[in-house]
Amino acid sequence: MSSTEGKVIKCKAAVAWAKDQPLSIEEIEVDPPKSREVRVKIRATGVCHTDVSGKRAILPFVRFPAVLGHEAAGVVESVGSAVTSFHVGDHVLTIFLPHCQQCPACKSPDQNLCEKFMVPSESVGLLFDGTTRMRCNGKTLYHFLGTSTYSEYTVVDESQVVKVNKAAPLDKISILSCGVATGYGSPIKICKVKPGSTCAVFGLGTVGLGAVMGCRVQGAKRIFGIDINKDKEEIARTFGVTDFLNPNDHQKPIHEVLIEATGGGCDFTFECIGIPEVLQSAINACKTGGQSAIVGVPAEGKTVTFDPYKLLYGRVWTGGFYGGFKPKNDVPGLVDDYMQKKIMLDEFISTTMPIDDVNKSFDLLLQGKIVKAVLYFNSGDFK
Ligand SMILES: NC(=O)c1ccc[n+]([C@@H]2O[C@H](COP(=O)([O-])OP(=O)(O)OC[C@H]3O[C@@H](n4cnc5c(N)ncnc54)[C@H](O)[C@@H]3O)[C@@H](O)[C@H]2O)c1
Ligand SMILES: [Zn+2]
Ligand SMILES: [Zn+2]
Repeated sequence: MSSTEGKVIKCKAAVAWAKDQPLSIEEIEVDPPKSREVRVKIRATGVCHTDVSGKRAILPFVRFPAVLGHEAAGVVESVGSAVTSFHVGDHVLTIFLPHCQQCPACKSPDQNLCEKFMVPSESVGLLFDGTTRMRCNGKTLYHFLGTSTYSEYTVVDESQVVKVNKAAPLDKISILSCGVATGYGSPIKICKVKPGSTCAVFGLGTVGLGAVMGCRVQGAKRIFGIDINKDKEEIARTFGVTDFLNPNDHQKPIHEVLIEATGGGCDFTFECIGIPEVLQSAINACKTGGQSAIVGVPAEGKTVTFDPYKLLYGRVWTGGFYGGFKPKNDVPGLVDDYMQKKIMLDEFISTTMPIDDVNKSFDLLLQGKIVKAVLYFNSGDFK
């Protein structure tokens, strides 16, 4: 039992008071967990592009004032009365995609979209019982993706935490909580890339580099990496990109460049940015019978037009969240794979910073100067 169990905790958090405003460091109050919830002390939280999109309010699942952040590792501080699978002191990752293990999707081996993920618009920013656990100066703070990890303590439904190996360094494995696993799983679980394939990954941020790593593990022979930031070439090659293309260096549309370079198109393409025009390029760059996966999250309301003949000629257009992984089944194994050096994580992390620098980390991401920033609350948190 922890000394804070059952009590309201006052702690530091980065609060997004309104759309597009810089986050503000505040002292907030965090309630104890309700029966099927877990309160977690966050030790490391990554900056994912989805947090930046949340701040900009271009996604359907944000409500202000909010505590953003969803990619994190921490330690269980206390558990609700009905929670049996977590205990104080467990090391956990918070995951934006619930895994209730009860609903048809969770029971199906073929998909990972737990029914709890389909939050109706009136429930955005609330936990599953329709209430919140955080306040600042008497004002309600809304949750983000059920996780809100830009707070030193957060309350999360038990379906959104996964217990992991205590020997694993929390700062490194925090990034398996979203971006890396999302990218990595896409060629493994969503597209099932075959050995010897030619792949193209559009966007070489954490998600795209994760996808490159997945293509390589699946035995892809040639991996094109496409990014408008020329500085991404060097790191992309360390993850397995064999051919780097910057669309700005070409007169022709980039899918035409890819079709020429491959003599007909790629077997698999992955859009890891969230831009409708790039989604079109990615399907156009596929060869007959190829597959294209949507991994990036476009702004709400954006649509894509495409030539139906692309699909008539056997191309498959697909996509998914969290790389098709089922969090409770797959995340412990990903952590073990990292411990056994089967997957790279350290190489994604460009910088670590205190939570006080959260706005700076957003700026650096948008400026293309970093791949992944990992934030901490106390300087000793990574030990
Ligand atoms: N499906 C999921 O479960 C899931 C999970 C996490 C993140 N995402 C989404 O994935 C996307 C990528 O996230 P990230 O954290 O890797 O972002 P990031 O900002 O680190 O990376 C995006 C990359 O795309 C490049 N880029 C931008 N515009 C481009 C263009 N027109 N052509 C080529 N390259 C371009 C940027 O230079 C950058 O390198 C975001 O939309 C994010 O919301 C999806
Ligand atoms: Zn479920
Ligand atoms: Zn994310």
